[in-house]
Amino acid sequence: MSQDSQKKMYNRSFIIVGPIVHSKEITRLTVFDLGLIAVSDGKIVAVEETANVAQIQEKYSITDDFVYHLGDGEFVMPGFIDTHIHASQYPNAGLGYDMQLLDWLTTYTFPLEMKYSDLSFAEKVYEAVVKNTLANGTTTAMYFATIHFNSTVLLANIAADQNMNWNTPDGYGERTEDSYKLTEDFIIQLKDKKNDLILPIITPRFALSCDMELMKMLGELASRYDLHIQTHISENVHEVSAVKESFHDCTSYADVYDKARLLTNKTVLAHGVHLSDDELKVLAARGTAISHCPNSNTSLKSGLCDVRRLLNAGIKVGLGTDVSGGYSLSILNTIRNTLDVSIHVSFGKGEDYAPLTYHEAFYLATLGGARAVALGDKIGNFEVGKDFDALIVNMKSPGSTDILQKYDTDALVQKFLYTGDDRNITKVYVAGRQVK
Ligand code: GUN
Ligand code: ZN
Repeated sequence: MSQDSQKKMYNRSFIIVGPIVHSKEITRLTVFDLGLIAVSDGKIVAVEETANVAQIQEKYSITDDFVYHLGDGEFVMPGFIDTHIHASQYPNAGLGYDMQLLDWLTTYTFPLEMKYSDLSFAEKVYEAVVKNTLANGTTTAMYFATIHFNSTVLLANIAADQNMNWNTPDGYGERTEDSYKLTEDFIIQLKDKKNDLILPIITPRFALSCDMELMKMLGELASRYDLHIQTHISENVHEVSAVKESFHDCTSYADVYDKARLLTNKTVLAHGVHLSDDELKVLAARGTAISHCPNSNTSLKSGLCDVRRLLNAGIKVGLGTDVSGGYSLSILNTIRNTLDVSIHVSFGKGEDYAPLTYHEAFYLATLGGARAVALGDKIGNFEVGKDFDALIVNMKSPGSTDILQKYDTDALVQKFLYTGDDRNITKVYVAGRQVK
């Protein structure tokens, strides 16, 4: 297809009519049993709680062919946001959980990541990651790649071809000047491409793999280009001790990043399982988010993260699969793990402590994730002016949970969150373009 005709299709306006589910706030889902969403040029132009299509059709000159009515058992919801995933570690998903973080990194993870100097290897993996991530309903992903420039650019290109978000370089075994220069080259390359769905992210891997000089240089680079930052924090108790030993003049793990000017309102820190109250105060004051990765925290036996405590401290929280610390790239799986871990954390805390609800987990996976990655004004729910990043869910599709009775929309959502899988995600849209 020529670029022109592709653009024409992309610009086409359409209306989706049927049950609509999204979050406007953390505590309760917003559900319209029968509403409509109108999309033009990739953006949402109308959201209404009625199926009064004629007026909107006329206003946007949309013919009947572009009015899609959802069937029985279907609903439309925002795409999932994965705030932390290592694209390069996908081949290891499901392997290596006999070890904890630091040994796991040297035994399983670094040897795999070294293979990304081979572009054909990188291409195979990255094609599969982007395809499977989208197929599982993730429309925005905050990817870690490896230190290899060419394969990291390849990941950005593959994501751009699929119309997906995000990307990064990171650091092991490089010289400081090289790391800095390659990072800046990468930023300039992505900026030149002028694709606002693909953003470079400053990615110091974690405090144990970067010295203060490099971290400060990367903090300065993020500030100069107004970029997002991602790294890991306080995942495992042995890691926390090692950081304290390595950075004597810092008062805490969070203080290491703060001294490097890496804690901004565009920073996402993965894990945060063992943070002190003082560290939470610093993160809240900087507007820095935590990516909660329960699948990883359990698989690598890092600990149980108390998300309620983070939220009560005023910290933005999103969900992350952390492949391959986590074994599944499905955010549906992460939602279930989030709910399970929250229940485990609640045991013994008394009746005043409320474990997370599925409403809250849905928020964290969508609008909460968007806010965590500082894109809450662009994606995360159905508001006029935002990109139409959305999933059509069909709880009646073959091979999945059969509907033996008629459920209301809220019940369909619960069933999807607890029992659904990629087979129930029949269509995926990124910025109005259908990618599944
Ligand atoms: N800390 C530093 N690197 C990593 C990584 O690749 N995965 C996880 N889970 N933690 C890390
Ligand atoms: Zn990670």
